[in-house]
Amino acid sequence: MVGHFNLRIDNADVRAYEGSSILEAALSNKIYIPHICNDPELKPFGGCRLCIVKVEGMKGMPAACTTLAAPGMNVVTRDAELDAVRKDTLELLLSTHPDDCLSCTANIKCELQDTIARVGGITRKLRRMDLKPFAENITPFFVYDPKYCILCQKCVRACDEVARQDFLTVVNRGSESQVACFIGEKELREVCPTCMQCVKHCPTAALRQVAPET
Ligand code: FES
Repeated sequence: MVGHFNLRIDNADVRAYEGSSILEAALSNKIYIPHICNDPELKPFGGCRLCIVKVEGMKGMPAACTTLAAPGMNVVTRDAELDAVRKDTLELLLSTHPDDCLSCTANIKCELQDTIARVGGITRKLRRMDLKPFAENITPFFVYDPKYCILCQKCVRACDEVARQDFLTVVNRGSESQVACFIGEKELREVCPTCMQCVKHCPTAALRQVAPET
């Protein structure tokens, strides 16, 4: 049987199950911490750095998704410094992101859009860099559109951890980074059409299902 314990989050006494991350402990107590790369179906990743918090006795700003909650822990999820770092992180993501939410296929269900609305105060102050290339069919079953990709790697991790395949990876570095698919024709036609875990876990419009060839 899993036990539980008490900790403090934002000056509130809350209970958490043993083994919970700080993010899980907060969300289960209806305390919102911004997060994009975390997914309950996937292992903690700590990539987007939006879930940063402050923990009494800990240095820096640990990611709430990869830091275990502990009895007696005292966590702060929002203050001026945390908000400023989160806003800068989102501004950076948006510096290469199209400004077309209203016509985007992910409009209203986009996790980036939702997070921006919840964090508030995002002004797109960073100069826009060149947008990444246009969408391409990296398999016959889904389109990958790098300009919407925020490199959360949910698709790569879902292919590995949920579908138990290993067809996707991130190639290149820095602003050139993007998702690529390495798969044989046989596996592609046998596995991908009925899976689509990569598309289901994409938080934006970067991966979109297309009708298979007939
Ligand atoms: Fe924690 Fe992305 S949700 S780093």
